[in-house]
Amino acid sequence: MNTTPLYRQLANHYLDAIRSGTLKTGERFPSIRLMMEKHAVSLSTAVQVCRELEDYGVLEARPRSGNYIRQPDTPAKPTASSLPPPLDTGAYVGIHEQVSAVLKASQRATVKVNFASAYCAPQLYPIKALQDNMIKALRQDQHLFETTGTTAGNIALRNVLARRALTSKTHVSAERIVITNGATEAINLALRAVTSPGDTVAVESPTFYGLLQILESLNLRVLEIPASSHSGINLPALQQVLLGPERIKALIVIPNLHNPLGSIMPDANKARLVQLCAEHDTVLIEDDTYGDLVDSEQPLSTLKHWDRSDNLIYCASLNKTLAPGMRLGWISAGKWHDRVEMLKHTQSRGCEALTQLAVSAFMGTPSYERYLRRLRNTLAQQRLQMSIGILRNFPPGTRVSTPEGGTLLWVELPREHSSMALFQAALNVGIQISPGGIFSNDKRFDHFVRIGCGAPYSPKIDEALQTLGRLLSL
Ligand SMILES: Cc1ncc(COP(=O)(O)O)c(C=O)c1O
Repeated sequence: MNTTPLYRQLANHYLDAIRSGTLKTGERFPSIRLMMEKHAVSLSTAVQVCRELEDYGVLEARPRSGNYIRQPDTPAKPTASSLPPPLDTGAYVGIHEQVSAVLKASQRATVKVNFASAYCAPQLYPIKALQDNMIKALRQDQHLFETTGTTAGNIALRNVLARRALTSKTHVSAERIVITNGATEAINLALRAVTSPGDTVAVESPTFYGLLQILESLNLRVLEIPASSHSGINLPALQQVLLGPERIKALIVIPNLHNPLGSIMPDANKARLVQLCAEHDTVLIEDDTYGDLVDSEQPLSTLKHWDRSDNLIYCASLNKTLAPGMRLGWISAGKWHDRVEMLKHTQSRGCEALTQLAVSAFMGTPSYERYLRRLRNTLAQQRLQMSIGILRNFPPGTRVSTPEGGTLLWVELPREHSSMALFQAALNVGIQISPGGIFSNDKRFDHFVRIGCGAPYSPKIDEALQTLGRLLSL
């Protein structure tokens, strides 16, 4: 009996056809519907076949016209997730318990090396400049702690953010920005503004576990759409879902430096995604937590840049790029602005003023750009060293993503390994990792691990990778 899953058998069948030249580069790949008919398989299996081929680098989704055969990448550019997500509709996320257990176990442990963090090492942040700005702000306004600011936040900071957004061709007016307690509060506000408990919200699969927790805490149902490390969310699969019977109230997407995949959506896909959501009246929630950490000197476009409907909610964070301890983020909610501002007022009032003043003074100067440039170069070096360290120490067959920026690597272990077992064994010896299973409500990412490389590579880190390698060989 053939124990290979059906989608794998079909993917292998198409791989053979591509290798033998029966299917040629540039040719249109059979549509999902055609595959369902031809092979008598379910929608989910057909989508899984495409996903598998995308991850092999032989298929690319082109906006509006479907999937096409492409030249595979060289082996030096490994793919990330190779397993497909479910297309089960209607399930509550249900991951909260598992995520909480992982986070609690980590907090109780004595952690010597933390690979689970998405932050940069403390010394990489411009803390001295921010401290100086704080002292200056306190000197200039000695009544700062006696007064409360507006719900929307400090206008000087909102002006700086609006001006900076222009560099990524994102037009937002300072009057329509609300400063938040990180992207977490921004996304909570966005979801509360546009959904009611029981509604269905689509997300990429895998996705940042914090988003799954937020959805569950708001009693929303989740639908996972395949995403690849090449081009992010799979648009044909999304379109299929949007055309289906389930009403998708909102979709949360991380288009630039996806967590955990590291993917960056091509511009054409961004434009098509925005259009698709507008056509189906699905609110698009853009999570741009990592955009400023993209390697490229030219800032990437945001989804917001392509939006003409005003039905897109843009959420961003300064916690990974500037100062994790300040907990600052922001939201520009388009036509939902008034509702978001009202919800922010009822939920927590405006954010405190001192950090906002210090940040706006720093971000408004050329020092910020110079700092970001340095940070990106440093992170690129750290990612490279960490990837080499992982591939040297982990079992043969391990694949590591190659994101073009940021602090995160998505590592695929050979299938027989359980990242949850590795998580527990590693924690016992003081090493913390993020097990892949918490990035989806399904079990398909159980042999993946997310490794943070925000800290400079060091003998201590190298030793920790050797220990992980040893644990994987037991
Ligand atoms: C993709 C993504 N969105 C949102 C957040 C939450 O960001 P914040 O710390 O600004 O609340 C994170 C944090 O890791 C993240 O990775």
